[in-house]
Amino acid sequence: MDNPFAVFVPQSNVSLLEYNTFHVDAKAEWFASIDFEYQIPTMLDWVDEHDVDLHLIGGGSNILLTKDVSGLVVRIAIDGLECDVETFSDKVLLTAGAGIQWERVVECATSHGWWGIENLTLIPGVMGSAPVQNIGAYGVELADLFYSLRAWDRMRGEVVTLVKEDCRFGYRQSVFKEWPNRYIILSVSLLLKKEGSPRIGYGQIETKLRESRIDSPSPADIMNVIRSIREEKLPDTKRVGCAGSFFKNPVVSADFFNSLKRRFPEMPSYVIDENFIKIPAGWLIEQCGWKGFRKDNIGVWPHQALVIVNYGNATGKELLSLAHDIIDSVRTKFDVVLYPEVNIL
Ligand code: EPU
Repeated sequence: MDNPFAVFVPQSNVSLLEYNTFHVDAKAEWFASIDFEYQIPTMLDWVDEHDVDLHLIGGGSNILLTKDVSGLVVRIAIDGLECDVETFSDKVLLTAGAGIQWERVVECATSHGWWGIENLTLIPGVMGSAPVQNIGAYGVELADLFYSLRAWDRMRGEVVTLVKEDCRFGYRQSVFKEWPNRYIILSVSLLLKKEGSPRIGYGQIETKLRESRIDSPSPADIMNVIRSIREEKLPDTKRVGCAGSFFKNPVVSADFFNSLKRRFPEMPSYVIDENFIKIPAGWLIEQCGWKGFRKDNIGVWPHQALVIVNYGNATGKELLSLAHDIIDSVRTKFDVVLYPEVNIL
């Protein structure tokens, strides 16, 4: 009998407008959605036969398309959400398909009262992209609760399981960025706590909880407070095109930081260790006068200078050119080089 999965038929010349949160109207030469793991080998055979590049996208919330994409763009849309409450007595193993919206995972965890990802609410994107970026916000990053993931390893031609050490997580960094085309993430497992303690030390969380007269917050309370903080600072990607923070916060040597701090005493910072300091890129960009900048359809978000926005139908090239102008002015004023967090295609 013929293998029913042996056929892979991508569409040609497809607009990616609805597949990237920057809302850039670039086209893919070929496009397909993958809903099931079993479609992967046939898709890869097609890529080999046609000798084209493969570009994987998830929620499209961390890419900037600067031109039409040649080759095959594949959106990983693998579904499924499972909770194992038995294996670990005090913890829950939550496993989600790579295509599940990240916020669905956060809502699932908080609705059960499980601790761990409440601080990561409202981060756009899907489960499969979370480990690539090692997403982080409000004092928590994915690596803190990551357990394992399953991925198709293109080098070995089979499904592999990677544990935390294999993923080499760092600040917005992972093995998936070191080897961009090697792994196709299929599902991710997180270890959440049945009983936990709130992490409310970052920014205004504690103040907001106090204002709401919440003394012993649940994960859902913390999620709600962080949602309100994020909504004040970050645009809603359904209405305004953007990809969250456009740049990473630069990490500089302690010596260099001390020399900068003498020139700019009010500069905020986070100590990483005795040798390295992280400087908020948003502050550097704001000091260069970019916050709230707008020219036609491109701009810098008025409430968070780290966010570049598309107010209408800007092209990827226009948005990238603004990013270059910002990099140049920060380098001129502070002698600090900003690197994009967003993947530029
Ligand atoms: N700041 C400014 N001006 C600005 C923005 C920030 O002066 O326009 C200053 C703030 O006053 C504060 C510091 O910079 O002293 C840090 O600001 P914030 O707490 O907003 O965080 P961030 O470092 O700018 C990072 C993440 C965000 C995440 C927030 C909150 C990166 C690249 N970004 O931003 O992540 O939500 O912390 O935890 O690390 C994302 O990755 O897309 C993202 C939004």
